[in-house]
Amino acid sequence: CSLCFCFFTTNNSGGLFPTGSHEYEVFRFALAQHQDVPKLVPQVDMVDTGSSFAMTYAFCSQFSKGVYAIMGLYDRRTVNMLMSFCASLHVCFVTPSFPVQTNNQFVLQLRPQLQEPLMALLDHFYWTRFVYMYSSDSGLSVLQRILDTAAERSWQVTSVNLDTLTESAFVKLLSDMDYKKDYQIIINCELDRLNSILNLIATQRRNLKNYHYILANLGFMDLNITEFQKLAPNVTGFQLVNRSDPAVERINQDWLDFDSKDLKLYTGALTYDGVSVMATAFQNLRRQRIDISRRGNAGECLANPPAPWGQGIDIQRALQQVRLEGLTGHVQFDERGHRTNYTLTVMELSHTGPRKIGYWNEKRGYVNTAVYRPTLEEFYGLQNRTYIVTTILEAPYMMLKKNHEQFVGNDKYEGYCAELASEIAKHVGFTYRLELVGDGKYGARDPDTKMWNGMVGELVYGQADMAVAPLTITLVREQVIDFTKPFMSLGISIMIKKPTKSKPGVFSFLDPLAYEIWMCIVFAYIGVSVVLFLVSRRGEKETPEHTNDFGIFNSLWFSLGAFMQQGCDISPRSLSGRIVGGVWWFFTLIIISSYTANLAAFLTVERMVSPIESAEDLAKQTEIAYGTLDGGSTKEFFRRSKIAVFEKMWSYMRSADPSVFVKSTNEGVMRVRKSKGKYAYLLESSMNEYIEQRKPCDTMKVGGNLDSKGYGVATPKGSPLRIPVNLAVLKLNEQAVLDKLKNKWWYDKGECGHKDSGRKDKTSALSLSNVAGVFYILIGGLGLAMLVALVEFCYKSRIESRRMKVSPVQSTSLGGMAGGGASGLGGENGRVVAHDFPKAGAQGLPCMSKAAGLGLSSKGM
Ligand SMILES: *[C@@H]1O[C@H](CO)[C@@H](O)[C@H](O)[C@H]1NC(C)=O
Ligand SMILES: *[C@@H]1O[C@H](CO)[C@@H](O)[C@H](O)[C@H]1NC(C)=O
Ligand SMILES: *[C@@H]1O[C@H](CO)[C@@H](O)[C@H](O)[C@H]1NC(C)=O
Repeated sequence: CSLCFCFFTTNNSGGLFPTGSHEYEVFRFALAQHQDVPKLVPQVDMVDTGSSFAMTYAFCSQFSKGVYAIMGLYDRRTVNMLMSFCASLHVCFVTPSFPVQTNNQFVLQLRPQLQEPLMALLDHFYWTRFVYMYSSDSGLSVLQRILDTAAERSWQVTSVNLDTLTESAFVKLLSDMDYKKDYQIIINCELDRLNSILNLIATQRRNLKNYHYILANLGFMDLNITEFQKLAPNVTGFQLVNRSDPAVERINQDWLDFDSKDLKLYTGALTYDGVSVMATAFQNLRRQRIDISRRGNAGECLANPPAPWGQGIDIQRALQQVRLEGLTGHVQFDERGHRTNYTLTVMELSHTGPRKIGYWNEKRGYVNTAVYRPTLEEFYGLQNRTYIVTTILEAPYMMLKKNHEQFVGNDKYEGYCAELASEIAKHVGFTYRLELVGDGKYGARDPDTKMWNGMVGELVYGQADMAVAPLTITLVREQVIDFTKPFMSLGISIMIKKPTKSKPGVFSFLDPLAYEIWMCIVFAYIGVSVVLFLVSRRGEKETPEHTNDFGIFNSLWFSLGAFMQQGCDISPRSLSGRIVGGVWWFFTLIIISSYTANLAAFLTVERMVSPIESAEDLAKQTEIAYGTLDGGSTKEFFRRSKIAVFEKMWSYMRSADPSVFVKSTNEGVMRVRKSKGKYAYLLESSMNEYIEQRKPCDTMKVGGNLDSKGYGVATPKGSPLRIPVNLAVLKLNEQAVLDKLKNKWWYDKGECGHKDSGRKDKTSALSLSNVAGVFYILIGGLGLAMLVALVEFCYKSRIESRRMKVSPVQSTSLGGMAGGGASGLGGENGRVVAHDFPKAGAQGLPCMSKAAGLGLSSKGM
């Protein structure tokens, strides 16, 4: 036969427990299944795989017959010899036997290696002290890996070789482990022996409550350990063959027709896949028309130096490149002939039997998928049950009524979530009972035990059916429970102490224009007056009718009159003077209009000058401390943030001394209230808005939200409630019930009055205090005028009395005039006198033109 391959098998038994071979039957069956591949002729030798002599003989006899590849089993005594034959003669050996660490490409190992998955499980369970029991065949390479890691991470590992152990020694070992509290055990051996060991343990022990076993074996579901299972131990293991796969089902059915026994042993599946690999490779070679026929020659086998088979490399490549979906999942080999890109199911023995808790593959490592799933019975049981709704006391979401002792059940509670729960129940149509979460927490995963606490924990571990509470939707939570669409959106916001309202000051009429503007106006006024004075001097021709009115005093007076929008009886007549006047009027017009436009607001509004308007403001100052809840999602947000402003804030918060983190929201709010504006607290906007509406009404939210998230109603994964509750939440949102609830619990029940109402009342009327400054100026001006009049009067009286001595006739007329000038300061009378006066006295009494200037000023008052 030119295209045959052979099979070694064994029916020896040894070691502590008996073993039996099943692979040969599967081999025959698999060949029968691959009838479509012609000329695949088996050549079978039954040899004792433990005997080197028998193996050598069989190998050489097969080789001389010209086999295409060899498939078979080995054991640890013959594996090295077999491998060196394969390497030197370039003959491929395909094996479902235990994997060995080798770079020999001619040995294709169907059984996936267990080191990596096992280490991943140890990491997952945080094992650092355990017993490793192994058989020398399969357990040695794993032992090596465990010892290396143990040395590296200082684990305490006790290793036990099962091959050297008698039954009585094993029983003694069990007692030892009890005594030393070595409750974590890995067992690595073939299925039959594993069955015997576990059942032996079952006969020796009444309960295994504390024990946790990890079975380093790929056939978890092939175990036959009914007695052991009754002790309800905690057992984790691996399963290679996916039994629910339809392809596996079909082959299994064919197998039952072929043989009355069960094809449940995963070694059978490996053998079957081995034959599939060979058949596929063979077909590929034929398709590529590579000639692999060979005439056998017994001499070649033991020739020295060995003469390798020329086509061996082609065949090796063809075998190694095979990819197929077999009974053991995706079959693919790496360049060393090891399985790669495979997935192992991780199983656990629960009271009802094995159940999947996760899977392992090279790419993702161990992935835990164990979640709480109500069974079908539980689902139907729920229909007539009162649902347990877990919640947490948190104003204004869930609060105990003031007189809650008088109520029973759900009536004891009030608040946003209490009403939300009742609305949902009404829409979905179920009865429920509100229960406060046992530990008063929202729900986080303990980094050590990996257990969830709080409301999330109650959902995950089946103690509650639903959580209606301000529970933030997050990725890690969504992985273990289901959330509805958010019923409330919010984000991190800043709470500061409300700045005390500043009452408008007496001189608040100055506020519409900044201090600098007032200064500029004063300088502009003086400047304009001076320029006017100068241009008038040059520009105005002094004729008898047109005298130059614009002395420095009149210039100032003209500018002031224009600025006050009052005008003036004199006005420039030269072009230059008019230009100056024009621009000054224009300037005045704009300034006064701007002033007037702002005036009302500045006089009436009680302004709150807030030192902080946004996160940026917080970040760039150091005077006001700011912080978050310790260990909350807000802190986490800053820790993780990659936005420069938040990074800066985080580095400040982390290093601030004294700590800016608080233990509870309440503490944070108290700190804001007591710190006289020197502490800002970062918290969720909904809570911020709520507290803003609570007495003593001295906090406020400033700025926008820093991020955005939502609160959702949560149900356990796979809960029948999930979809109806989600729909109910969406419906409530669309019907604006949620908005109504929020208004009710935040603003209608607020203690600080509605946001805008207060301000409007106050704008309606000005109080005296708003305009007091104007009165002060008026009074001050009047007083000043009286004073000036008095000084003038005295001064003039003196001059007059001096003149009287010179010319008594003139003094009388001057006395009347001086009196008129003085009275002119206060009333109309002065104007008449003033108008007439300059003409009368201009020539004769030049000094009196000054008095005329003063007389004119009466108009401005
Ligand atoms: C088994 O123990 C592990 C921790 O070692 C735990 O995570 C797991 O839930 C336990 N399984 C059972 C069924 O008790
Ligand atoms: C791994 O196997 C999947 C099929 O299960 C295949 O699609 C994928 O290409 C394989 N990856 C590699 C790197 O070969
Ligand atoms: C639920 O209870 C009602 C009566 O209370 C009964 O008619 C119905 O069959 C029960 N349904 C289930 C699924 O038990």
